[in-house]
Amino acid sequence: MTTGLRIGFIGAGRLGKALALSFAAAGLRVRAVASSNAASASELAAGIAGCEAMAQQAVVDACDLVFLTTPDAAITPTCGSLRWRPDVSVVHCSGVTEVEALGAARDQGASIGGFHPLQTFGDPAAALASLPGSTITIEAAEPLNAILVALAGQLGCRVNRLPPGMRARYHAAAGFASQFINALFAEAARVWESWGATEAEALQAMLPMARGTLASIESSGIARGMPGPVSRGDASSVEKHVVALAALSEHTLDFYRTLCTSTIALAVERGSIDQDTARRIREILEKQRPRCDRM
Ligand SMILES: NC(=O)c1ccc[n+]([C@@H]2O[C@H](COP(=O)([O-])OP(=O)(O)OC[C@H]3O[C@@H](n4cnc5c(N)ncnc54)[C@H](OP(=O)(O)O)[C@@H]3O)[C@@H](O)[C@H]2O)c1
Repeated sequence: MTTGLRIGFIGAGRLGKALALSFAAAGLRVRAVASSNAASASELAAGIAGCEAMAQQAVVDACDLVFLTTPDAAITPTCGSLRWRPDVSVVHCSGVTEVEALGAARDQGASIGGFHPLQTFGDPAAALASLPGSTITIEAAEPLNAILVALAGQLGCRVNRLPPGMRARYHAAAGFASQFINALFAEAARVWESWGATEAEALQAMLPMARGTLASIESSGIARGMPGPVSRGDASSVEKHVVALAALSEHTLDFYRTLCTSTIALAVERGSIDQDTARRIREILEKQRPRCDRM
């Protein structure tokens, strides 16, 4: 089904590079690449045997399947600026953008779809390594759907499906396991900095612990795999935390309260604390108010 399929990319950024290199490494035919900056396209094409950098329209004309891997805001204008044909397919890789953003190609007879890898793409080498085992959310009608599913399989990825109209909700949910982790680390690092430690020291100490937490979630699930004092019903530790944070920063204390309240619900769900303990911890979180703001 994918043998001989000529694949093209428009947008040689973080995801475009990682996906093109991954397809090529899987033995697929990445035929052409274009980007707003010709040097980016040439650099990517140079790393893939049989791939050429060319103009955007030439990519569409030379390929059977085109990946529009521009930033989200450029998907609709780029698609609308090109001539499409009935025997070509075009997909975007945005999690939040509806597939209808490619409506201009569909109106000219092309097949359209979404191919969103639930993965973080920064450094292409790291992205190449992290893609196998990742999940790709596919949204397309047949026969394009079967081709995209086959491609995901050739990358060693799992396939996820979404009901129509759910992309914004789905993408917001992904943020909790992606960029919001950065926000959590930022908060912890700010607290470490209050006694003079550096961000690097904080990260070095906390990353192995975070990996342990992820492993625990993987083996035991979200509620049962949760560590920390709330999971043990240890109200007195929570009290010490809020007193310490109240002296430091109202923002950090508020953030702690919100997250700690979520962990109370998880501890109740896993059965490790009863309703009385849950109420006592909630009262501790509510009663402590900040007395100064040094951060
Ligand atoms: N990065 C991720 O972790 C990730 C994860 C999942 C999905 N995605 C999705 O993947 C898509 C691309 O994201 P990205 O992170 O790879 O963005 P990116 O790193 O900013 O790369 C996009 C590249 O497209 C090129 N470009 C910009 N405007 C263009 C235009 N009008 N026509 C042609 N090329 C254009 C630019 O390359 P030059 O200026 O160098 O030519 C730019 O570097 C987005 O839809 C995003 O939502 C990204």
